[in-house]
Amino acid sequence: MFIANQNFNRLPESYLFSDVARKIKDFREANPESKVIRMDIGDVSLPLPECVVEAMSRAAAEMGQSASFHGYGPEQGYHFLREAVAETDYRSRGIKGISADDIFISDGAKSDLANLGDIFGSGVRPAVVTPAYPVYIDSNVLAGRGGIPENGRWSGISFLPARPESAFLPPLPHRGVTADVIYLCYPNNPTGTVLSLDKLQKWVDYALANKSLIIYDSAYEAYISTPGIPHSIYEAEGADKCAIEVRSFSKTAGFTGVRCGYTVVPRSLEFTFIDGTKASLNRIWCRRQCTKFNGVGYVVQRAAEALYTPEGREAIRRNVAYYMDNAALLRSALLGIGADVVGGVDAPYVWFRPKSELDSWQLFDRLLHRAAISSTPGVGFGKEGDGWLRLTGFNTAALTSEACSRLSHINDIF
Ligand code: MLT
Repeated sequence: MFIANQNFNRLPESYLFSDVARKIKDFREANPESKVIRMDIGDVSLPLPECVVEAMSRAAAEMGQSASFHGYGPEQGYHFLREAVAETDYRSRGIKGISADDIFISDGAKSDLANLGDIFGSGVRPAVVTPAYPVYIDSNVLAGRGGIPENGRWSGISFLPARPESAFLPPLPHRGVTADVIYLCYPNNPTGTVLSLDKLQKWVDYALANKSLIIYDSAYEAYISTPGIPHSIYEAEGADKCAIEVRSFSKTAGFTGVRCGYTVVPRSLEFTFIDGTKASLNRIWCRRQCTKFNGVGYVVQRAAEALYTPEGREAIRRNVAYYMDNAALLRSALLGIGADVVGGVDAPYVWFRPKSELDSWQLFDRLLHRAAISSTPGVGFGKEGDGWLRLTGFNTAALTSEACSRLSHINDIF
């Protein structure tokens, strides 16, 4: 007799962004004349850079010729892309010791952030800084690590709440809190906060001292403009012995629909199995990928490779500047109406709390119904986020300006 995974029955019925999308759809159906400005999920509005489109066309043409056709590729990714990543994103930025063999090309950050749970031993307790991208918690719950849900928490997961009074900076686990695997995301989704190198170093020191693994989601690193803020966890000393880094081309180059990213699992990352034998995480992640994944398509990897040419670098710079101009507009509109505002400086997300007693979903409804702006309710990222909303800088400049002008009538909204 087949029995379905009970853990699905314990999670909220749908995923945060599916709930948001459903509410927007209902609103649009009920108000067909409304012009909703989407500022909820972080989906980008700029098209693929020209050099990417050209690389895809060339690769597609190769696939149509028997002499240059590619069937199954390496599960870890083609060497040309792994090498470009290692050279441009690590070695040329002064991060030594990361080479092509440490890079695994993925179909985007989300899948790997969830799939990495496959390499956790039984009994491993995850720790999550909240508010957090929901995938960290939901994927652990699905894998049976959630324990019992109680009051917006899960007994099997250590919650490390980052609170407004400490500018949403993450607290290191207190003594007695177990954090075998720690999820960190900087620049942060959803709050847009960043970590200085000395603060990041404290997390790495903690992980080394406690034999914890850090999963570092740096999908938004390209948005950092403040000098001195680390772009990679491997800028912290010893991180290659305790951290996996996950990145994406989605938000920098319009790959949300193309799907490509990468995960860095350094060969120096050694833990143990339950029987005490040595476990190279690079080797076991490779084993996992070979078992469950056939690699990212050739055409997509050639498209990603184009981002490492001078044209590709310039396209990313332009995209980031465009979205950050939007984020700056949103920030100043929200500050102008007296909201508490975080983020939007080194990250494309603006996190805000209007002067209002409403909870996040009520705020979401008001903003949608009265201003036709969709947002993401802060509570969807964890209970510390209640009363907050997240807006993204990823819409077009014209629609972002329009949203700012609607927001200036916030008293009529909230
Ligand atoms: C977000 O809006 O938080 C992200 O776009 C979601 C994602 O990347 O999956």
